[in-house]
Amino acid sequence: MADLLKQLASVRVQASADLANAVSDLTSLADWEKRYLGPAGEITALLRGMGQLPPDQRPAVGREANQLKNDLTAAWEIRRTALRAAELEFQLARETIDVTLPGRHFPEGTIHPASQMIDEVSQILAYLGFETVFGPDVEIGKYNFDMLNIPANHPARDVWDTMIVDDDRDEIILRTHTSPMQARIMEQRQPPVRVIVPGRVFRFEAQDASHEWMFHQIEGLAVDARITMADLKGVLTELARQLFGEETQVRFRCDFFPFVEPGVDFSVSCPFCQGKGCRVCKHSGWIEMGGAGMVHPNVLRWVGYDPDEVQGFAFGLGVERLAMIKYGINDIRAFAANDLRFLRQFARADFGQGSGAR
Ligand code: FA5
Repeated sequence: MADLLKQLASVRVQASADLANAVSDLTSLADWEKRYLGPAGEITALLRGMGQLPPDQRPAVGREANQLKNDLTAAWEIRRTALRAAELEFQLARETIDVTLPGRHFPEGTIHPASQMIDEVSQILAYLGFETVFGPDVEIGKYNFDMLNIPANHPARDVWDTMIVDDDRDEIILRTHTSPMQARIMEQRQPPVRVIVPGRVFRFEAQDASHEWMFHQIEGLAVDARITMADLKGVLTELARQLFGEETQVRFRCDFFPFVEPGVDFSVSCPFCQGKGCRVCKHSGWIEMGGAGMVHPNVLRWVGYDPDEVQGFAFGLGVERLAMIKYGINDIRAFAANDLRFLRQFARADFGQGSGAR
């Protein structure tokens, strides 16, 4: 027994000395713990020798061994706290942030010119009382054609080269124009109606400098008692002058769209040559902005309106074409080409350099 107690005393001396001298960081502390306190450590090994002692001597040795274990554990804990604090201190000192270093650069977006054009037209027309609403890109034949007075097999249906999503299920298509929203809105509301509908449209069309297969339109629709062609001309003239300047001339010529009667195409005097004729307007002095007209009585009737009580006008503008005129862009394909050199030219000071990429 005396022998075991001696050995325990010597472990105490050795362990304390090691802790003071050999343990300098958390790794060496872990080694120390393993050596003295671990399941394969020195104290456990000594306790195993207790089995050979006569039973009456065992409690004294057990007490001493437990006391030693508790003391070493307490010392270990104090050391661990101190080492952890020192390590944190060291890390903080090493990882000092240099606030004078330049920040990391994050690429910034800009508002797409088509979106800017939509915003500008929406704002102008909002002052004239038009609310902006949105409709689905994927349409059914009923709204894209039928409700617009274009029955199945009507030749006018071919005018819009349609992209078909599913021909079997009620002719599911990508809308070829924003006009389907005319019937959708009128079905939901009673006159007076005054809305514009900006959005994407799709046509199975060969691309060239002025034609895209995916582009944007802005539909306009006003229905009320005593709406006339004069209102249509007034609204579109005001829009053109606010977009392109007070001097802008407007021109309305007869055109055919099955859902308006009468129908017109709507052009503005070329802002590049003031109507004298140049390359941009193909020497005609005019640039076409869209189609328009008085809502056909059939269209009013089919949504449940009485054409003897209310009349309306509608127009459809090509957004990219407007932006091309406004910013002097000579190829429509630039809009969807994703070339940053093109897009960055439209960073606007009032949005910040691309604060709201869409
Ligand atoms: C229509 O789409 C009619 N829904 C417009 C309308 C609305 C008429 C309401 C009457 C009442 P149109 O197919 O002409 O019409 O297209 C209207 C405008 O979209 C054109 O004037 C042009 O600015 C633009 N546009 C047409 N096709 C393309 C194309 N492939 N690429 C770019 N812009 C186009």
